Amino acid sequence: MRVGVVGGGLMGSGIAEVCARSGIDVTVVEADQERADAARASVERSLARAVRAGKLPEDEQAAALERLVVTTRLSDLDGADAAIEAIVESEPAKRELFHALDRLLPDARFLASNTSSVPIMKLAAETSRPERVLGMHFFNPVPVLQLVEIVRSIMTSQETIDEARGFAEERLGKRCIEAKDRAGFVVNALLVPFILSAIRMYESGFASREDIDQGMVLGAAHPMGPLALADLVGLDTLLFVSQSLHREFRDPASVSPALLNRMVEAGLLGRKSGQGFYEYP
Ligand code: 3HC
Repeated sequence: MRVGVVGGGLMGSGIAEVCARSGIDVTVVEADQERADAARASVERSLARAVRAGKLPEDEQAAALERLVVTTRLSDLDGADAAIEAIVESEPAKRELFHALDRLLPDARFLASNTSSVPIMKLAAETSRPERVLGMHFFNPVPVLQLVEIVRSIMTSQETIDEARGFAEERLGKRCIEAKDRAGFVVNALLVPFILSAIRMYESGFASREDIDQGMVLGAAHPMGPLALADLVGLDTLLFVSQSLHREFRDPASVSPALLNRMVEAGLLGRKSGQGFYEYP
């Protein structure tokens, strides 16, 4: 089986790594050579980390890298059995891409999006076979977190759901839940208002960033506090999700706090930019 992953950022490179480690040939498409190099370096770093942790034998590391192709040409996906889109959270860019994937991969078993904020139906509507389009929403860090949300639009066929679920569970070793095509799906609809509340609490001076995070780690057994998690997810992504939740449900809990807006405008995006609620020198 050969899978195409379009977008090699935080999520795309993680998805590609998991595919390659599962014995699947994977072609990652990036926008330019610099990003393509960064995507490959990111997979290499993460594989090396798994080897150091004793989770991956060295020969499997080499085999996984051999299954990985990183390119800047979308046409290199020709003949792929399925595609997973993980580009920037821009609706016009994603729509254009689905239009192109539909033409390029007429026999693909499914065309999936890892989007966390664009309705799957809007992407499916760009194709000639909306029944083959669905959401496959992975969680960061992809090699570590087990979950994939399988998102069914009002047009996705049961056959496509079964195909994608079988791929995620049997080939990638993930666990799946199913969600409808509503903003936030299941996890972000619950998680994002919680993170936004923590930002509001910090912004109001109610408690320090460390105390808010320690509170949830020590008092509620979360693996990391909400402000550290915001930095991990990326503040731009968090903002996109909050805006899509608010557009859909008009719930005041999903309004993005002014501090989050200002931080994104300032380019303080969390770990990936070196600074968010914490500093990452
Ligand atoms: N890539 C690969 N492996 C990684 C990794 C990464 N980026 N980060 C950590 N790991 C591995 C480590 O190798 C380690 O493996 P081991 O236990 O077998 O040695 C294991 O994960 C634990 O790592 P660490 O000991 O370094 O650190 P922690 O124990 O503090 O765990 C964490 C780090 C895995 C990030 C953990 O804190 C965690 O799970 N946090 C919550 C993450 C979360 O909630 N993600 C979901 C975000 S929402 C989302 O993605 C949806 C989007 O739409 C917004």
